[in-house]
Amino acid sequence: MKIIEVTDTNDFAIKSVEFFEKFVTHNSNSLITLPTGNTPLPFYEKMLGAYKKNNKINKFIYLSLDEYYGLEPDDHRLFANWLDREILTPIGVSPSNRITINSACNDVEKFCQKFEGQIESKGGIDLAIIGIGGNGHIGFNEPGSDLNSPTHKVELTQETITSNAEYWGSEDAVPKSAITIGIGTLKKAKNTLLLVRGANKAEIFKATLSNEISSAVPSTYLQEQNNLTIIADKEAMKLL
Ligand code: GLP
Repeated sequence: MKIIEVTDTNDFAIKSVEFFEKFVTHNSNSLITLPTGNTPLPFYEKMLGAYKKNNKINKFIYLSLDEYYGLEPDDHRLFANWLDREILTPIGVSPSNRITINSACNDVEKFCQKFEGQIESKGGIDLAIIGIGGNGHIGFNEPGSDLNSPTHKVELTQETITSNAEYWGSEDAVPKSAITIGIGTLKKAKNTLLLVRGANKAEIFKATLSNEISSAVPSTYLQEQNNLTIIADKEAMKLL
């Protein structure tokens, strides 16, 4: 595990882009998950600048990490659409280089199997870029999730619905269920980059690194993750 401590938001963005650019340059057409949430936004903003200098930065295949369940393809709340607006279209990742979770699928089990098959056919996840929820969720693997599960459907906890209300204005606008890549699949990622930012993540970041590995705090699986890099700011690291 390598922890890169950054001083402020700008430094966070610079170090994240440096890591990403180096990775895609050395591993072209790799399968990469990108997180949503507030944490990665400075990283994506900085990536737009990097793309102007290096237009090969878009040579990767975007893989959905998690997605709300039951929304139509044009819904602005879909994480795939959020990332499309924020980063994928601005840097020119073509739709054919995106493997996304079908929020509107009727047969969830069948869809999840197909999605896992798509990951396998690409040789697995090359780089899982992830954030962390205040309750230790990774993707939408909420506390209590099986740490060996593949992609599956989950019911969101009240804590997650409350925190996600920040993105969409109210809790009513937050879907109550989701489909997420499971921890079992994330564990098999060849490389992982965890992004952590802000004082509100200090407690869960400490628990992630020091609690016993258990589904009570899903992010604890990272303690045994191979090729894990963490980019964290001073605020998030203050309890370590
Ligand atoms: C969201 C997403 C996660 C994200 C996390 C942290 O609910 N499902 O993929 O990493 O919560 O979000 P934020 O960065 O806004 O704290």
